Order: sequence, then C-alpha cells, then structure tokens
Amino acid sequence: MSKLAIIPNGGMLIHDGRIDIVGASDEIEKNARDAEVVDAGGRVVLPGFVDAHTHLVFAGTRLDDFERRARGETYEQIAAAGGGIWSTVEKTRAASESELLDQAKKHVSWFLRCGTTTVEAKSGYGLTLDDELKILRVIRRLNQETPLEIVPTFLGAHAIPHEDRQSPQRYVRLVINEMLPRVASEKLAEFCDVFCEHGYFDIEQSREILTAAKNLGLKLRIHADQLTNSGGAKLAAELRAMTADHLEKTDEKGIAAMKADGVQPVLLPGSVYALGLTGYPRAREMIEAGLPVVIATDFNPGSSPSPSMPTILSLACTQMKMSPAEAITASTINAAYSLNRGDKIGSLEQGKLANFSIFDCEDFREIAYWFGFPQAHSVYIRGERVHKLPEMTQKFNEAPTSIYRFSHL
Ligand code: NIG
Ligand code: FE
Repeated sequence: MSKLAIIPNGGMLIHDGRIDIVGASDEIEKNARDAEVVDAGGRVVLPGFVDAHTHLVFAGTRLDDFERRARGETYEQIAAAGGGIWSTVEKTRAASESELLDQAKKHVSWFLRCGTTTVEAKSGYGLTLDDELKILRVIRRLNQETPLEIVPTFLGAHAIPHEDRQSPQRYVRLVINEMLPRVASEKLAEFCDVFCEHGYFDIEQSREILTAAKNLGLKLRIHADQLTNSGGAKLAAELRAMTADHLEKTDEKGIAAMKADGVQPVLLPGSVYALGLTGYPRAREMIEAGLPVVIATDFNPGSSPSPSMPTILSLACTQMKMSPAEAITASTINAAYSLNRGDKIGSLEQGKLANFSIFDCEDFREIAYWFGFPQAHSVYIRGERVHKLPEMTQKFNEAPTSIYRFSHL
C-alpha cells in the first residue's frame, strides 16, 4: 500500500472514455498529433477517488442532533430520545422521489468537487418496502442523470422502524420475505448491508438477512463493531462478505478473522471525528496484518456529514497513522476492488476508465497535508470534464463600483 507508481512528467492518451496509453508525456504527444491536449500544468494527476461507503440519499439534515452533541449528548442518547436514524427516516418517508432526487443531485455535485468519481450508495432511510424501493430508484436515476458512477447497496436493515419496535422479528421477516426478493428481481442493488449493533440488528438477525441476500446473488458489506465489539467483523468473515465497515471496536481476533477469510476493512474516520470521539479503528494493525484497507467518507446526515475524501485522507494520516501513500491506495485501487471493480477503475492503467482528478499541488502528499478547503483543480469521468475550480477574480478592488447593502448590521 505504501508504494505508488508515480510517473514524473507523465501523460495519458484517452480514447472513447478509456485510457489507451500511460507513460512519458513527450512520447505520448509525439504519437498522437491529432489529439486534443489537456495540460495539467505540472500538477498532480490521480485516479478519481472511489468512495466505498456512503448514505447518499436522504431528506433534510440532522442539525438538531449536531447541536445536542455539541452540548454533550452522545449518538446513542440522541437516538434513544427520538433523534438519530429514525428522524431522517421520518423525513425521507415524507419526501417524494423527485424531492429526494433534487437533494441527492446536490450531494453528487459536492462529491465531484472533491475529486470523487465513483461512490457506493446505500438505501436505509425508508424502512418500508415502498420507501426503500423509492431510495434505490433515486440511486438508479442519479446514475443515469449525473456523471458520478454509483454502486447501489440495499440497507433495509439499518434500524428497526418505530412501528415494529415491539416486534423486531416482524421487520426482519419483512426485509427477508418482501424487500430482498424485490430488490434482487428489479436489480436495484449489487450489495446488501446490515447495521450489526446492539439496539439495531444482532448477530443472529444479521446472519439471517445477509444469508438470504447472498442466496439471491447479492454481495455483502456489514456495518460492524462501530459502537461495541459485537462480533461483526467475525460475522463478515464467516459469511465471506466483501467488506466489514467501521471496525472502531474490532480487536485482534476480528482482524485475524478478516485476514483468514479475505474480508476488506473499510475504515470511516469521518464518523469518529464528527461524533466527537477519539477511538479510531486500528488501521496500522490491519495494514501490518496484510489487509487491503479501504478508507471512505460514510457520508450521511447523522454521523459523518462530509463528502470530502481529501478530509478523510487527512484524518487517516493524522489520527490513524497511515502514510499519505497508504491513504491514496486505500481511497483508490483498494476501494475499487472492494466494489468488485478493480479491473475497471481505481488506477490509471491501460484499458481502465479515464476517471481522474488534477490536484492543485506538486506533491501528492499535499492532498492529505493541507486540509479543509477544495484542492481538486479539475475532475474527469470517462474522459469528460465534470468539474473545474473557478479562477480567482483578479483585482476585485478595481471592479466597477458596487453598492453593498447590509440590512442587519
Ligand atoms: O454509518 N451506523 C449506521 N449508519 C450510519 C449512521 C447513519 C445515521 O446516523 O444517519 C453510519 O455511521
Ligand atoms: Fe455507514
């Protein structure tokens, strides 16, 4: 993970949205005289970020939770008092498909601006058959109507809805008997995920749901060991899930189980940071164990309201002691493999999609080093530019006189 293949003065020849040649810029230019030239101006060119864990589609925000946490309440206390996932479910149920689509398109533009070219997106704020299908259809439309490439995941088992509080088993049956078959037959998701945690879905319920999903041909991801070490990583290993995500509380046994059964850890430091916690997952131990670690945003309104992979790289280096090179590997090629797309995206190689970002810096380590502002200079998906940083307005004090009115000074 710590060895990047960097080509100084490198270039690419792109044709029909794919990379034809990668190598020295002068050589490529000599052999492609008719090509349109995009000069990156000596900046860093990277594969587009692959964000392998997001909750992209939801209604509203969770500003009240945010403010309550600032006053000292915990994620669990706020959820128990009627905030948390449930409050987003109520708003998402009330929203129409087109309202959800409009809000999600705004989120998509944020991802593109940060240099992300592929995201995984989960349902999970509907928790009825119709509302889960509504979210998955929005994800499908985002894929058709925006340039971002989106990998859909069904997360019907994100929380027990309030109407089933007294009979969680009834909800588990609904997920297995009604939701999963529809999701599979309408090909609305490639993966199935479960929030395996005390107060959400226990090991038994998670195993049952994920086994049913696997039998329908879906691949598996699991929200595992986020708040407690409840055996989620081990369950992921037992079920041969593609990934186990979060892992803040996973111990050495969980790490060994993931290694033994080929599960990729997806670490989400943005949610530790935004919840005001300090217990980051043990990234170093996982890397030393030889696990192909992935880092992702966990973009969602509750625990991680940020679409920024550069911010996640910063947290990976400062809080989890990953090197900048490891963080780049974790957010590009490793993430691509975790979404079953290692042969198509995640690196700049011949035959792969021309998904790449130009960063306004000379050394790739700057992407993790500077933090808190947009550094992506321009972003391309399948060879088409989808974002460009606006130029700075020059000498604005010489602009024609304007009158500014401040009504509330
Ligand atoms: O990944 N842990 C469960 N799901 C999300 C949080 C969702 C929410 O709070 O709305 C997560 O952190
Ligand atoms: Fe999540």
